[in-house]
Amino acid sequence: MSMMSIGSEEEEELRRRKLDEALEVKSLRRIISAYLNYPEASEEDVKRYELSFQKLPLSHKALLSHLPQKFQQLRWCISENSVFIFQMLQAFDPPLNMSQDIDICEHEKLKTTNKHYGEKDARSCQSEEKSHHHSIDEAKSVDEKDVARRLPEVEFSSSPDWLDPSLQSHVPMVDVDKVRCIIRNIVRDWAPEGKIERDQCYKPILEELESQFPNRSAGSPPSCLVPGAGLGRLALEISCLGFVCQGNEFSYYMMICSSYILNYTQVAGEWTIYPWIHSNCNALSDRDQLRPVSMPDIHPASAGITEGFSMCGGDFVEVYKDPSQAGTWDAVVTCFFIDTAHNIVEYIEIISKLLKDGGVWINLGPLLYHFADMYGQEDEMSVELSLEEVKRVAFHYGFELEKEKTIEATYTTNPRSMMQNRYFAAFWTMRKKASRVAVETQATT
Ligand SMILES: C[S@@+](CC[C@H](N)C(=O)[O-])C[C@H]1O[C@@H](n2cnc3c(N)ncnc32)[C@H](O)[C@@H]1O
Repeated sequence: MSMMSIGSEEEEELRRRKLDEALEVKSLRRIISAYLNYPEASEEDVKRYELSFQKLPLSHKALLSHLPQKFQQLRWCISENSVFIFQMLQAFDPPLNMSQDIDICEHEKLKTTNKHYGEKDARSCQSEEKSHHHSIDEAKSVDEKDVARRLPEVEFSSSPDWLDPSLQSHVPMVDVDKVRCIIRNIVRDWAPEGKIERDQCYKPILEELESQFPNRSAGSPPSCLVPGAGLGRLALEISCLGFVCQGNEFSYYMMICSSYILNYTQVAGEWTIYPWIHSNCNALSDRDQLRPVSMPDIHPASAGITEGFSMCGGDFVEVYKDPSQAGTWDAVVTCFFIDTAHNIVEYIEIISKLLKDGGVWINLGPLLYHFADMYGQEDEMSVELSLEEVKRVAFHYGFELEKEKTIEATYTTNPRSMMQNRYFAAFWTMRKKASRVAVETQATT
């Protein structure tokens, strides 16, 4: 190979890396804009409710005369949620140079793909189920003046440039929805109300880890990887059980929020949010819809994490297919994750490679393939296998099934809603068989 071609290969690699980073910056800016747009987009909704109210005949208006006050309460709740969101953004330290210029046309021409962070949230928010609830008495009812007073509390003058409020405009509806999903995810992971879901989804996993690793030693704790870690609660709980745990997460929406809760919480119950205000459907009462949720339910820093706890940002496939990861993990835990794959076979192959011989893969979740609906769109491949096929693929990659059951579970569901989407999720423990080479080596020693 000539010197010339080596030089141009290096240049090409450099160019590609710069473009990848620029795409990542673009993606992150879009996510920050979505967060910043939260109050505006939510205000638009309230205005729509008001317009509908205005169109009512007088007699109906009289019957529903409380609604204008409810609209004001909604505004107040939105402002409370916004305060949390803005504080979270202000604490965020972007891992990229956010002020760089991006030539997007250039990117599009080269068709590079951003393999690290992105916006592919695996699942749209889902609804609803029954349980205990907070009293609305805790929700402060307010008048218009209060609303006006709250909003300026967000101090932008000391904020970095990338938090410029002008970014609030022109955010696609789909991005706004993602912010609302994050608010629901906060309940799942970090609110007392989310305990029902955590007990359904995280508890069986934690119990299984405890029974698989009964003799965990503080001196040499087992390692556990949690791909698609969401807002980090499961990873934190695993760490508290005495594992060196790493959460892996692709979405900046999630990473910004988990990082804030994990690293900046000072006391349990520090914030109050109003997660259920964005849907007028299936509410049992206005009180239910407007009820406050305090969070987090625990102070993460005092929860008793094991040293080595970390959250790793990036695409699971890109990060963990690296040969340096092979055979390094004692356990891999996937919760509502494997159906986020473009190619689930690739996920399973990587999980198998990551594990040490004899390591365990604990999985809980449905097979609601995230990219199933996007099939046909450019670059959005989606391989959708039945549970039976998924298990067959796992066996091919050296797994043995140790435990299997079905667990009824919800995902980011409002426990007080009249609509409850329930999964009959597959739960399993599989063990990676010792490879022939390893068995032979053991036999000769
Ligand atoms: C349905 S959520 C489940 C989150 C969490 N495990 C839970 O049970 O609440 C799936 C998560 O996987 C993340 N995700 C999707 N594809 C990913 C990928 N390729 N690499 C890393 N994370 C990914 C999504 O951003 C999302 O946070």
